[in-house]
Amino acid sequence: MSLLSVENLAIHFGGIKAVDQVSFAVEAGEVFTIIGPNGAGKTTIFNLISRIYDPTEGRLIFDGVDFTTMPAHRIAGLGIARTFQNIELFEHATVLQNLLVGRQPHARVNLLSEILFLPSVRRAEIAHREKVEEIIDLLDLQAYREQMIANLPYGVRKVVEMARALCTEPKLLLLDEPSSGLNVEETQDMSYWIEDIKRRLGVTVLMVEHDMGLVSSVSDRVLALNYGRVLAQGSPEEVQRNPDVIKAYLGGEE
Ligand SMILES: Nc1ncnc2c1ncn2[C@@H]1O[C@H](COP(=O)(O)OP(=O)(O)OP(=O)(O)O)[C@@H](O)[C@H]1O
Ligand SMILES: [Mg+2]
Repeated sequence: MSLLSVENLAIHFGGIKAVDQVSFAVEAGEVFTIIGPNGAGKTTIFNLISRIYDPTEGRLIFDGVDFTTMPAHRIAGLGIARTFQNIELFEHATVLQNLLVGRQPHARVNLLSEILFLPSVRRAEIAHREKVEEIIDLLDLQAYREQMIANLPYGVRKVVEMARALCTEPKLLLLDEPSSGLNVEETQDMSYWIEDIKRRLGVTVLMVEHDMGLVSSVSDRVLALNYGRVLAQGSPEEVQRNPDVIKAYLGGEE
Protein backbone atom coordinates (compact mmCIF):
# COMPACT_ATOMS: atom_id res chain seq x y z
CA MET A 1 0.00 0.00 0.00
CA SER A 2 1.29 3.47 -0.90
CA LEU A 3 1.63 6.07 1.85
CA LEU A 4 -0.31 8.64 -0.22
CA SER A 5 -2.59 7.91 -3.16
CA VAL A 6 -3.98 10.72 -5.26
CA GLU A 7 -6.68 9.40 -7.59
CA ASN A 8 -8.16 11.36 -10.50
CA LEU A 9 -7.86 14.57 -8.54
CA ALA A 10 -9.43 17.67 -10.11
CA ILE A 11 -10.35 21.20 -9.08
CA HIS A 12 -11.93 23.82 -11.27
CA PHE A 13 -11.93 27.55 -10.45
CA GLY A 14 -14.68 28.94 -12.65
CA GLY A 15 -13.53 27.97 -16.15
CA ILE A 16 -9.93 27.16 -15.13
CA LYS A 17 -9.08 23.51 -14.61
CA ALA A 18 -6.19 24.18 -12.20
CA VAL A 19 -5.81 20.45 -11.52
CA ASP A 20 -7.29 18.02 -14.03
CA GLN A 21 -7.49 14.24 -13.47
CA VAL A 22 -4.15 13.94 -11.68
CA SER A 23 -3.19 10.53 -10.26
CA PHE A 24 0.01 9.51 -8.51
CA ALA A 25 1.16 7.51 -5.50
CA VAL A 26 3.90 8.33 -3.01
CA GLU A 27 5.65 5.33 -1.42
CA ALA A 28 6.86 5.36 2.19
CA GLY A 29 10.49 6.46 2.48
CA GLU A 30 10.85 8.21 -0.87
CA VAL A 31 11.30 11.78 -2.02
CA PHE A 32 8.65 12.41 -4.68
CA THR A 33 8.87 15.69 -6.58
CA ILE A 34 6.32 17.60 -8.65
CA ILE A 35 7.78 19.91 -11.28
CA GLY A 36 6.13 22.12 -13.89
CA PRO A 37 6.03 25.67 -15.26
CA ASN A 38 4.46 28.55 -13.29
CA GLY A 39 0.73 28.11 -12.88
CA ALA A 40 0.88 24.37 -13.65
CA GLY A 41 -1.18 23.56 -10.53
CA LYS A 42 1.58 22.37 -8.16
CA THR A 43 0.67 24.48 -5.11
CA THR A 44 -3.01 23.78 -5.79
CA ILE A 45 -2.27 20.05 -5.37
CA PHE A 46 -0.66 20.83 -1.99
CA ASN A 47 -3.71 22.91 -1.03
CA LEU A 48 -5.95 19.98 -1.97
CA ILE A 49 -3.86 17.50 0.06
CA SER A 50 -3.80 19.84 3.07
CA ARG A 51 -7.60 20.15 2.62
CA ILE A 52 -7.56 23.94 2.20
CA TYR A 53 -9.45 23.36 -1.07
CA ASP A 54 -12.21 20.84 -1.74
CA PRO A 55 -11.60 18.84 -4.89
CA THR A 56 -14.16 18.97 -7.68
CA GLU A 57 -13.43 15.29 -8.36
CA GLY A 58 -11.17 12.51 -7.16
CA ARG A 59 -10.00 10.78 -4.01
CA LEU A 60 -7.17 11.25 -1.51
CA ILE A 61 -5.97 8.28 0.55
CA PHE A 62 -3.30 8.41 3.26
CA ASP A 63 -2.06 5.28 4.98
CA GLY A 64 -5.29 3.50 4.00
CA VAL A 65 -7.53 6.35 5.23
CA ASP A 66 -9.74 8.19 2.74
CA PHE A 67 -9.29 11.85 3.75
CA THR A 68 -10.94 13.48 0.73
CA THR A 69 -13.51 15.25 2.93
CA MET A 70 -11.58 15.42 6.22
CA PRO A 71 -11.45 18.91 7.79
CA ALA A 72 -8.10 20.73 7.44
CA HIS A 73 -7.44 20.84 11.21
CA ARG A 74 -7.30 17.05 11.35
CA ILE A 75 -4.60 16.70 8.67
CA ALA A 76 -1.67 17.20 11.08
CA GLY A 77 -3.08 14.45 13.30
CA LEU A 78 -3.22 12.18 10.27
CA GLY A 79 0.56 12.63 9.88
CA ILE A 80 0.88 15.25 7.13
CA ALA A 81 2.79 18.53 7.59
CA ARG A 82 3.70 21.22 5.09
CA THR A 83 5.70 24.34 4.40
CA PHE A 84 4.42 27.24 2.31
CA GLN A 85 5.75 28.84 -0.87
CA ASN A 86 5.75 32.10 1.13
CA ILE A 87 7.13 31.25 4.56
CA GLU A 88 4.48 31.26 7.32
CA LEU A 89 5.96 31.72 10.80
CA PHE A 90 5.23 33.90 13.85
CA GLU A 91 7.56 36.81 13.02
CA HIS A 92 7.70 38.24 16.54
CA ALA A 93 8.37 34.99 18.34
CA THR A 94 11.64 33.13 18.73
CA VAL A 95 12.70 30.05 16.78
CA LEU A 96 12.10 27.91 19.88
CA GLN A 97 8.60 29.34 20.40
CA ASN A 98 7.71 28.71 16.75
CA LEU A 99 8.90 25.12 17.03
CA LEU A 100 6.92 24.51 20.22
CA VAL A 101 3.82 25.63 18.30
CA GLY A 102 4.61 22.75 15.95
CA ARG A 103 3.97 20.44 18.92
CA GLN A 104 0.35 21.64 19.12
CA PRO A 105 -1.19 18.52 17.50
CA HIS A 106 0.36 16.50 20.34
CA ALA A 107 -0.79 18.87 23.11
CA ARG A 108 -2.78 17.40 25.98
CA VAL A 109 -6.47 18.24 26.30
CA ASN A 110 -7.02 17.42 29.99
CA LEU A 111 -7.27 20.93 31.45
CA LEU A 112 -7.41 19.80 35.12
CA SER A 113 -4.12 17.91 34.92
CA GLU A 114 -2.65 20.92 33.12
CA ILE A 115 -3.75 23.25 35.94
CA LEU A 116 -2.46 20.90 38.64
CA PHE A 117 0.71 20.42 36.59
CA LEU A 118 0.66 16.69 37.36
CA PRO A 119 3.77 14.54 36.71
CA SER A 120 2.17 13.33 33.45
CA VAL A 121 1.96 16.94 32.26
CA ARG A 122 5.58 17.54 33.21
CA ARG A 123 6.59 14.39 31.32
CA ALA A 124 4.65 15.54 28.26
CA GLU A 125 6.31 18.97 28.48
CA ILE A 126 9.75 17.32 28.63
CA ALA A 127 8.87 15.08 25.67
CA HIS A 128 7.84 18.16 23.64
CA ARG A 129 11.13 19.89 24.48
CA GLU A 130 13.12 16.77 23.60
CA LYS A 131 11.46 16.44 20.19
CA VAL A 132 12.06 20.12 19.47
CA GLU A 133 15.73 19.86 20.52
CA GLU A 134 16.17 16.79 18.31
CA ILE A 135 14.92 18.76 15.29
CA ILE A 136 17.06 21.79 16.24
CA ASP A 137 20.12 19.51 16.29
CA LEU A 138 19.20 17.75 13.05
CA LEU A 139 18.80 21.02 11.14
CA ASP A 140 21.72 22.74 12.89
CA LEU A 141 19.61 25.58 14.32
CA GLN A 142 21.26 25.79 17.79
CA ALA A 143 22.74 29.22 17.10
CA TYR A 144 19.30 30.69 16.32
CA ARG A 145 17.04 29.07 18.93
CA GLU A 146 16.46 32.24 21.03
CA GLN A 147 16.39 34.67 18.09
CA MET A 148 13.27 36.34 16.80
CA ILE A 149 12.14 35.19 13.33
CA ALA A 150 11.92 38.81 12.08
CA ASN A 151 15.69 39.21 12.67
CA LEU A 152 16.75 36.08 10.79
CA PRO A 153 18.02 35.91 7.21
CA TYR A 154 15.59 34.44 4.68
CA GLY A 155 17.61 31.22 4.23
CA VAL A 156 17.46 30.45 7.96
CA ARG A 157 13.71 31.15 8.08
CA LYS A 158 13.17 28.55 5.38
CA VAL A 159 14.97 25.96 7.52
CA VAL A 160 12.96 27.02 10.61
CA GLU A 161 9.71 26.59 8.71
CA MET A 162 10.78 23.09 7.74
CA ALA A 163 11.75 22.42 11.39
CA ARG A 164 8.33 23.62 12.57
CA ALA A 165 6.63 21.17 10.22
CA LEU A 166 8.91 18.34 11.42
CA CYS A 167 8.06 19.05 15.08
CA THR A 168 4.56 17.70 14.37
CA GLU A 169 6.27 14.31 13.76
CA PRO A 170 4.72 13.83 10.33
CA LYS A 171 4.93 10.67 8.24
CA LEU A 172 4.68 12.85 5.13
CA LEU A 173 6.28 16.28 4.72
CA LEU A 174 5.09 18.57 1.91
CA LEU A 175 7.73 21.11 0.84
CA ASP A 176 6.58 23.87 -1.53
CA GLU A 177 9.71 25.17 -3.33
CA PRO A 178 12.27 24.63 -0.56
CA SER A 179 15.02 26.33 -2.61
CA SER A 180 13.11 29.46 -3.71
CA GLY A 181 14.94 32.60 -2.60
CA LEU A 182 18.05 30.64 -1.58
CA ASN A 183 21.54 31.16 -2.99
CA VAL A 184 23.64 28.35 -4.47
CA GLU A 185 25.27 27.42 -1.17
CA GLU A 186 21.97 27.48 0.77
CA THR A 187 20.35 25.34 -1.94
CA GLN A 188 23.17 22.80 -1.56
CA ASP A 189 22.55 22.78 2.24
CA MET A 190 18.83 22.30 1.56
CA SER A 191 19.58 19.13 -0.40
CA TYR A 192 21.52 17.78 2.62
CA TRP A 193 18.64 18.63 4.97
CA ILE A 194 16.16 16.83 2.73
CA GLU A 195 18.44 13.75 2.59
CA ASP A 196 18.73 13.82 6.40
CA ILE A 197 14.96 14.14 6.84
CA LYS A 198 14.50 11.08 4.66
CA ARG A 199 17.39 8.96 6.02
CA ARG A 200 17.61 9.92 9.71
CA LEU A 201 13.97 10.71 10.50
CA GLY A 202 12.46 8.27 8.00
CA VAL A 203 10.00 10.95 6.88
CA THR A 204 8.57 10.64 3.35
CA VAL A 205 8.83 13.86 1.34
CA LEU A 206 6.50 15.24 -1.33
CA MET A 207 8.13 18.32 -2.80
CA VAL A 208 7.41 21.00 -5.39
CA GLU A 209 10.63 22.40 -6.81
CA HIS A 210 11.96 24.45 -9.74
CA ASP A 211 15.72 24.01 -9.24
CA MET A 212 16.51 20.98 -11.43
CA GLY A 213 19.86 20.46 -9.69
CA LEU A 214 18.11 20.01 -6.36
CA VAL A 215 15.36 17.91 -7.99
CA SER A 216 17.89 15.50 -9.52
CA SER A 217 20.03 15.21 -6.40
CA VAL A 218 17.27 14.33 -3.90
CA SER A 219 14.28 12.91 -5.80
CA ASP A 220 13.56 9.21 -6.15
CA ARG A 221 10.71 9.93 -8.57
CA VAL A 222 9.43 12.98 -10.39
CA LEU A 223 6.04 13.95 -11.82
CA ALA A 224 5.82 16.73 -14.39
CA LEU A 225 2.67 18.81 -14.57
CA ASN A 226 1.47 21.35 -17.13
CA TYR A 227 -1.89 23.15 -17.22
CA GLY A 228 -3.08 20.93 -14.37
CA ARG A 229 -2.39 17.67 -16.22
CA VAL A 230 0.29 15.01 -15.78
CA LEU A 231 2.86 15.19 -18.59
CA ALA A 232 5.28 12.52 -17.42
CA GLN A 233 6.29 10.46 -14.40
CA GLY A 234 9.46 8.49 -13.65
CA SER A 235 13.06 8.86 -12.51
CA PRO A 236 14.47 12.43 -12.58
CA GLU A 237 16.47 11.57 -15.73
CA GLU A 238 13.50 10.01 -17.53
CA VAL A 239 11.27 13.00 -16.84
CA GLN A 240 13.91 15.57 -17.85
CA ARG A 241 14.45 13.71 -21.16
CA ASN A 242 10.72 13.50 -21.92
CA PRO A 243 9.97 15.52 -25.12
CA ASP A 244 6.61 16.81 -23.77
CA VAL A 245 8.35 18.08 -20.63
CA ILE A 246 11.09 19.80 -22.64
CA LYS A 247 8.42 21.42 -24.86
CA ALA A 248 6.41 22.64 -21.84
CA TYR A 249 9.47 24.32 -20.33
CA LEU A 250 10.62 25.89 -23.62
CA GLY A 251 7.04 27.07 -24.24
CA GLY A 252 7.10 28.75 -20.83
CA GLU A 253 10.20 30.77 -21.74
CA GLU A 254 8.89 32.15 -25.01
N1 LIG B 1 -8.08 30.12 -5.22
C1 LIG B 1 -7.94 30.21 -6.55
N2 LIG B 1 -8.87 30.82 -7.30
C2 LIG B 1 -8.76 30.92 -8.65
N3 LIG B 1 -7.71 30.42 -9.34
C3 LIG B 1 -6.74 29.80 -8.65
C4 LIG B 1 -6.80 29.66 -7.23
N4 LIG B 1 -5.69 28.99 -6.81
C5 LIG B 1 -4.99 28.74 -7.91
N5 LIG B 1 -5.61 29.20 -9.02
C6 LIG B 1 -5.13 29.10 -10.42
O1 LIG B 1 -4.76 27.76 -10.63
C7 LIG B 1 -3.61 27.69 -11.47
C8 LIG B 1 -2.51 26.91 -10.79
O2 LIG B 1 -1.95 27.69 -9.72
P1 LIG B 1 -0.84 27.13 -8.75
O3 LIG B 1 -0.60 28.16 -7.70
O4 LIG B 1 -1.22 25.78 -8.29
O5 LIG B 1 0.42 27.02 -9.70
P2 LIG B 1 1.91 26.54 -9.39
O6 LIG B 1 2.17 25.37 -10.27
O7 LIG B 1 2.10 26.35 -7.93
O8 LIG B 1 2.77 27.77 -9.93
P3 LIG B 1 4.10 28.49 -9.36
O9 LIG B 1 5.25 27.70 -9.93
O10 LIG B 1 4.04 29.85 -9.96
O11 LIG B 1 4.04 28.48 -7.87
C9 LIG B 1 -3.25 29.12 -11.81
O12 LIG B 1 -3.83 29.44 -13.05
C10 LIG B 1 -3.88 29.91 -10.69
O13 LIG B 1 -4.17 31.21 -11.08
MG1 LIG C 1 3.25 27.27 -6.51
